[in-house]
Amino acid sequence: MDRVGKGVGSRGSFRALYSVLKGSSAHRCFWAVLLLLALAVLLLAGVMHVDVRLLMPQLGDQVDGPPVTNVMFLKTHKTASSTVLNILFRFVETHNLSAALPAGGRFHLGYPWLFLARYVEGAEQGGPERRFNIMCNHLRFNPPEVQKVMPNDTFYFSILRNPVFQLESSFVYYKSHVPAFRNVTSLDAFLASPWAYYNQSLGLSNAYARNSMWFDLGFDNDAPPKEDYVRARLLDVERRFQLLLIAEHFDESMVLLRRLLRWRLDDVVAFRLNARSRHSVTSLSPAGQERAKHWCALDWRLYQHFNRTFWARLSAELSPRRLRSEVARLRERRRELAALCLQDSEPKNKSQITDFRLRPYQSGRADIMGYNVKPGLDNQTLQTCQRMVMPELQYMAHLYTLQFPDKPPKNIAFLEA
Ligand SMILES: *[C@@H]1O[C@H](CO)[C@@H](O)[C@H](O)[C@H]1NC(C)=O
Ligand SMILES: *[C@@H]1O[C@H](CO)[C@@H](O)[C@H](O)[C@H]1NC(C)=O
Ligand SMILES: *[C@@H]1O[C@H](CO)[C@@H](O)[C@H](O)[C@H]1NC(C)=O
Ligand SMILES: *[C@@H]1O[C@H](CO)[C@@H](O)[C@H](O)[C@H]1NC(C)=O
Ligand SMILES: *[C@@H]1O[C@H](CO)[C@@H](O)[C@H](O)[C@H]1NC(C)=O
Ligand SMILES: *[C@@H]1O[C@H](CO)[C@@H](O)[C@H](O)[C@H]1NC(C)=O
Ligand SMILES: *[C@@H]1O[C@H](CO)[C@@H](O)[C@H](O)[C@H]1NC(C)=O
Repeated sequence: MDRVGKGVGSRGSFRALYSVLKGSSAHRCFWAVLLLLALAVLLLAGVMHVDVRLLMPQLGDQVDGPPVTNVMFLKTHKTASSTVLNILFRFVETHNLSAALPAGGRFHLGYPWLFLARYVEGAEQGGPERRFNIMCNHLRFNPPEVQKVMPNDTFYFSILRNPVFQLESSFVYYKSHVPAFRNVTSLDAFLASPWAYYNQSLGLSNAYARNSMWFDLGFDNDAPPKEDYVRARLLDVERRFQLLLIAEHFDESMVLLRRLLRWRLDDVVAFRLNARSRHSVTSLSPAGQERAKHWCALDWRLYQHFNRTFWARLSAELSPRRLRSEVARLRERRRELAALCLQDSEPKNKSQITDFRLRPYQSGRADIMGYNVKPGLDNQTLQTCQRMVMPELQYMAHLYTLQFPDKPPKNIAFLEA
């Protein structure tokens, strides 16, 4: 068998075959069986080899080592970050972890002011050593203060979006809050003469109107985009953050995040949250898009840089084939969970969401969409499904009550209106 096996595919196999045909009929039969057996074994090995590789993604929930549980997510604005927040909040709950939540009645960690440790509930109780596992609410990044509440082995990550679309989203969402946007009818009109509307000395209140991701990272969003300055800040970000995700490639981002954190597939499967209805999305003219890149030059540089490093990182971590199969699996699982959980997989507007605990917070002219959970689910499924569609304010209030049962709960009654 060895002899035949080694010979297959080479001249040896012909010799073996030749001797089979030449010998007596009993002899011939013996050799024929042996030859077939060898071929079968080789074939099986070939098949197994392929199968093992095909099966790998399905078995991909096996992860090497324990999951990373100390994580800081810098939640940038209008970048799909609410969906990431839902993933992190669910992880907190399913793994019984602690979250650094806004103190008292607040809904974010001091934004738009630079973050201070005292904005976190309980940071000052239990001595100066009080640390949390997960931090992900809106804040303006300030590393020394963040380090006061997060352990020193924390994994830092954030998410960026093409600033042209990010600005468009900001414009619709913050139209009535931001002085620079208040008196202008369209973003195209704003970008045609931004200085007519944008008053630099209004500082924080106009932060959503220019280089808002740069601002969230703790930098000066009005700084001139000089090469040395930009490079130094990009290096700061690279040193502070292990990973920058790209909203335009959300599923690839989740695959990469899961790999680096050693989390399970279901930990990173999410429905799209805090999205606008289609009619709330406007589009910029091509000239407006070019102007947006100049107006938000710092964000544009930031995005270009980390879009490049994202793809380099992806290809260093996963083969293209593995990436495709992991993305496909993530999407398949999302479809499964949508079929299980959602009354209708199309997101619904506020007036169509029956349970106020699942109703998203509305802002300005943007219609923020949410989901209704299927009726008649068993308790455990219902709980899983509710968590997946729970908007961020409600989820934050829920975690706050779990974590600080003796404190007055967050007042989210305004969501019932
Ligand atoms: C969750 O953590 C808290 C505090 O660390 C602990 O008291 C509680 O028993 C834990 N619950 C579970 C279900 O592990
Ligand atoms: C990280 O923190 C732990 C406990 O708080 C401490 O023992 C350890 O020395 C710290 N490591 C570094 C590199 O600072
Ligand atoms: C908007 O326009 C009104 C009336 O022209 C003016 O009173 C107001 O100061 C303007 N607001 C801003 C933020 O420029
Ligand atoms: C900009 O805002 C400052 C401070 O509120 C104000 O004094 C100044 O007049 C404003 N400038 C313009 C051009 O509106
Ligand atoms: C981001 O990177 C991808 C992959 O290299 C590229 O196809 C895409 O054009 C980049 N996006 C922008 C806006 O530069
Ligand atoms: C929201 O849903 C209601 C009820 O179906 C509908 O009448 C309304 O037009 C919807 N609004 C938007 C903005 O889609
Ligand atoms: C399911 O939840 C309902 C309402 O919260 C409760 O009354 C019921 O006992 C629960 N059933 C089980 C099996 O836990």
